[in-house]
Amino acid sequence: MKFSNAAVAAFAASAMAAPNKKPRQSALACNAPVRLDASTNVFQQYTLHANNFYRAEVEAAAAQISDASLRQQALRVADVGSFLWLDTIKNIEKFEPAVADLPCDEILGLVIYDLPGRDCAAKASNGELKVGEIGRYKSEYIDVIAGLLKANPNSAFALIIEPDSLPNLVTNIDLETCQRSKAGYEEGVAYALKTLNLPNVVMYVDAGHGGWLGWNDNLRPGAQGLARVYKNAGSPSQVRGIATNIAGWNAWDQTPGEFSSHPDAQWNKCQNEKLYVETFGAELRSAGHPNHAIVDTGRNGVTGLREEWGNWCNVNGAGFGVRPTANTGSSLADAFVWGKPGGESDGTSDTSAVRYDSFCGKREAFKPSPEAGQWNQAYFEMLLRNANPRF
Ligand code: BGC
Repeated sequence: MKFSNAAVAAFAASAMAAPNKKPRQSALACNAPVRLDASTNVFQQYTLHANNFYRAEVEAAAAQISDASLRQQALRVADVGSFLWLDTIKNIEKFEPAVADLPCDEILGLVIYDLPGRDCAAKASNGELKVGEIGRYKSEYIDVIAGLLKANPNSAFALIIEPDSLPNLVTNIDLETCQRSKAGYEEGVAYALKTLNLPNVVMYVDAGHGGWLGWNDNLRPGAQGLARVYKNAGSPSQVRGIATNIAGWNAWDQTPGEFSSHPDAQWNKCQNEKLYVETFGAELRSAGHPNHAIVDTGRNGVTGLREEWGNWCNVNGAGFGVRPTANTGSSLADAFVWGKPGGESDGTSDTSAVRYDSFCGKREAFKPSPEAGQWNQAYFEMLLRNANPRF
């Protein structure tokens, strides 16, 4: 429930104790159904919400920091808007508390992430649903989320649809796991796009990053792969485009790009995310897929840390990046967002764990690191110290 009078009174009271939690708009503005026009950039109208789940993680982390000035900086992270990951059926329970304190001029970011056979080219984020459990994905996951979105017609939602899934079908289809996951990914993503296509929702389908589908040979198949699923879903009106660099490390417009001096750079025109958004965006357009983008800048404040562009796990030395904003300087990029909640792990460094992935044991991967999604206090503090811009 949003701002009933009682809730406003409660907010007013708590606002005195915690000034940064007060709603920015009156209750009246929430009284009308939200209709997002996906032919426009909704991030110009709405601010990405600093959801209370990440806020609680960050506040708990700040409480563990003894250095007073670093603790103050940590508390500022709690006010940064970020996406909330609904990464299991159980974690759908995070939805209602998150929407409960959503001001009317803010948009709640949600990551839809529970496909059967999830994370087919890696191990760290293998999910709860097995290949073939598409029925459960639809009825116990997507339908339930759709019900919650419909039950909150006066609230605005931005969804990132299934990180890594369609890109994996382009570049990792030689793996047996991805071959087995393919049908479920395509059917599942199409079902998600169709079922979550609601007036108060805008959707961005995950498109990897410049070091993934940005290779010359991947651009067209990548765009066509996304377009096929989008068309199978009936070209839903609320799909605005793509999400890039989700949980990634690439800089937005660093020139020359971080990996430009690598010998194979000649095969990739997308040496930073801006070039990727523009180049892949043009392919999407030809393929008949909406091509506006949101780009994760949550952990890209420091570059030059990775030996290989594809190294994705808990990069050591990383720092928080640019805060969410609709001022991207690019007409194709709707917003910089924080997609991955900085401080949550990408995967465990425990070599004996079932979901241990060798990328989390690389030289530049931070160790020790807990299971994907679990909080890593030391990593959070490192991101904070290395934040660029600083907190
Ligand atoms: C994990 C999810 C987690 C997300 C955000 C992913 O890598 O697999 O469980 O919710 O990161 O931290």
